[in-house]
Amino acid sequence: MTKRKIVLTGVTTSGEPHIGNLVGAILPAIKASKDQNIDSFLFLADYHSLIKNQDAQLTYKSSFEVAACWLACGLEPDKVIFYRQSDVPQITELAWILSCLTSKGLLNRAHAYKAAVASNEDQNIRDIDKGVSMGLFNYPILMCADILMFKADEVPVGDDQKQHLEMARDIAEKFNKHYGEIFTLPREVISKSHGVLPGLDGRKMSKSYGNVIPVFVSQNKLKNMIKKIKTNSLEPGVPKDYQSCTIYKIYKAFATDEDCLHMKDRYDNGISWGEAKESLTELMNEVLTPYWAEYEKICSDRGYVEKTLLEGAQKAQAVAEPMMKLVRQMVGIKSFNGPKTL
Ligand code: TRP
Repeated sequence: MTKRKIVLTGVTTSGEPHIGNLVGAILPAIKASKDQNIDSFLFLADYHSLIKNQDAQLTYKSSFEVAACWLACGLEPDKVIFYRQSDVPQITELAWILSCLTSKGLLNRAHAYKAAVASNEDQNIRDIDKGVSMGLFNYPILMCADILMFKADEVPVGDDQKQHLEMARDIAEKFNKHYGEIFTLPREVISKSHGVLPGLDGRKMSKSYGNVIPVFVSQNKLKNMIKKIKTNSLEPGVPKDYQSCTIYKIYKAFATDEDCLHMKDRYDNGISWGEAKESLTELMNEVLTPYWAEYEKICSDRGYVEKTLLEGAQKAQAVAEPMMKLVRQMVGIKSFNGPKTL
C-alpha cells in the first residue's frame, strides 16, 4: 500500500477573506481534500495573526470569518483535519524547541525581516530593527513547526512563502541529523494561480495594499468595487489587450474556458470598459451567490463553527501529542521513572 500524501495549508487570520485567497488557496485546497489519496490538514494560523497586528478584535473577527468562509465554500469537516493553530498548543511548544536549534543567521536572511530592515535603512533610521517584533523575526520557525508537526509532504503556498519552506527543510534536516530522523522534509507546491490575482489597482491583491475584493460583500458593494478597477482610457470600439487587463484576469479566475474564449473575442472587438465590468459583475454574482447563502447560514450558527473546529483540534492533537512526546524525549525531556539514560 502506498503511503497517503499529507498536504497542509494555513491561512493567517488577520483580515477578511478576499477573492485572491478564495481562488488561490481556499478552493484548490478544498478540491484537493476530496482526493482519496491525500490527508489534508487545513488550519487557521491565528498565532501568526499576532505578528501582523495587535488588534485583538481583528484577530478574533477574522478567525471566525476565515473559518466560516472555508465551511461556506464547501469544506467537508469529516474529510479533513480542520483546526485553529491555537487549539493545538504542541505547535508553539515545538516552535520553541526548533528555535533552540536554529541559528539566528538563518532568520536574519528571512524576506519579511530583511524587508523591514531595508525600509528602516531607506529612511535613515538609526535602529535598523525599529518596529521589528520578535514575533516577526521568529515567524518562519512557527510556520516550520506548523508543517513539521504533521509530517507534511506538500505545502501549497504563494511564491512569497517559498523561502519559509526552504527554511523548514533546513531546520528539519538539522534536527534529524542531530537528534535522530523524525521529521519529513516538506515540499512547497506553488500553484500558478496562487497569489497572482490582481487587486482593484492592478497590483497583487493584498490587504496591505487596500485593493482587495472580499468574498462576502453585498451585490451592490461588489458592483461598486468592480467599477473602481483601474483601466486605461481606450474608447469603446477600439480593440483591447485582454492579457494585461485586470478585469480580464479576475474574470478568468471565475470563468469556464469557453466563457474566456468568448470574452477574448469581445476584447478584440472593442468591448467598452463599462461592458467588461458589467460582465465581470454578473459572473461573480453567479459564482459567489451559493457561497453567500451558505455563509449567511453558517454565520447564524457560531456554535457549529466552534464545535467543528474543536473536533478538528482533537484530531490534530491525536497526531501532535504523540509526535511531541517523541520529540521531547529525543531532546532529553522525559520522566525520571525510567532508566538513567535516554
Ligand atoms: N505564512 C503563511 C501566509 O502568510 C500562512 C501560514 C502559516 C502557513 N503557517 C503555515 C501556510 C503553514 C502554510 C503552512 O500565507
